[in-house]
Amino acid sequence: MTNPKIIDGNALAAQMRTLIAERVAEQKASGGPCPGLAVVLVGDDPASQVYVRNKNKRADEVGINSFEHLLPADTSEAALLALVAQLNNDPKIHGILVQLPLPNHINAQKVLESIDPAKDVDGFHPFNVGRLATGGTALVPCTPLGCLLMLKRHFGDLSGQRAIVLGRSNIVGKPMAQLLLRESATVTIAHSRSRDLASECRRADIVVAAVGRPEMVRQDWVKPGAVVIDVGINRVPAAEAGKTRLVGDVAFDEVMPLASAITPVPGGVGPMTIAMLLRNTLEACAHQQGLPFRDLL
Ligand code: GUN
Repeated sequence: MTNPKIIDGNALAAQMRTLIAERVAEQKASGGPCPGLAVVLVGDDPASQVYVRNKNKRADEVGINSFEHLLPADTSEAALLALVAQLNNDPKIHGILVQLPLPNHINAQKVLESIDPAKDVDGFHPFNVGRLATGGTALVPCTPLGCLLMLKRHFGDLSGQRAIVLGRSNIVGKPMAQLLLRESATVTIAHSRSRDLASECRRADIVVAAVGRPEMVRQDWVKPGAVVIDVGINRVPAAEAGKTRLVGDVAFDEVMPLASAITPVPGGVGPMTIAMLLRNTLEACAHQQGLPFRDLL
């Protein structure tokens, strides 16, 4: 039997993709365009290659056109900026994602800032970051958006809940905190320099762990009944010699018995990220066409 405490990210992401596929079909049936997503990968990082392949496969499944741009590791910054400019001007493309990390000789911030904010389905452009912080319509980073969807599924209203975000990255920690604040949670952002991390964490009704440290959050860090969202994906040596396994930032076996709900790794937040990328592509397309966009929840 499945444990109802364990939030099944694969199942929820599949539900979301079904809904997105229906919306894409509706949009096409009413004469609207087929949403187009361009994914740009520079270099041959194996993990990034797997992500990009998955993104394309999932896009195709929901009826979104995906366009893959695989560039060699020695691609110049100027050539990458020229490709982004071309995609910005291409009416078939409604969403642009440049896979991170980029090689060191390319200024990633410069590239992200060159993406048309209306097509910025990662939500990394300062325009969207600022909109998320100050109100108004914004494209929101996919991983935090997936976490929020899971939390809303569990709690409904997050208003007044005490939330802690462990980690302050631009991709997860900071936008996650902004989203929780937008939902009227009481938000703490903790990080590697925070004093007494364990007792800060123990006060929280909601814990979002995004620090990239294997199994850092232990049993005595978590208040009984808290909801724990684990964004970490860390590869560690397995018991069997020469093998590895994936673990999150949370010591799952210790924390699961006392949490009221928890996401596993793998199969928790991960699948939600791509589902939210598809959602953002549909939203970007709708807004560019002046069509309404209904949110998934
Ligand atoms: N690399 C790891 N996560 C992400 C993400 O969400 N977007 C992009 N563009 N690159 C990433």
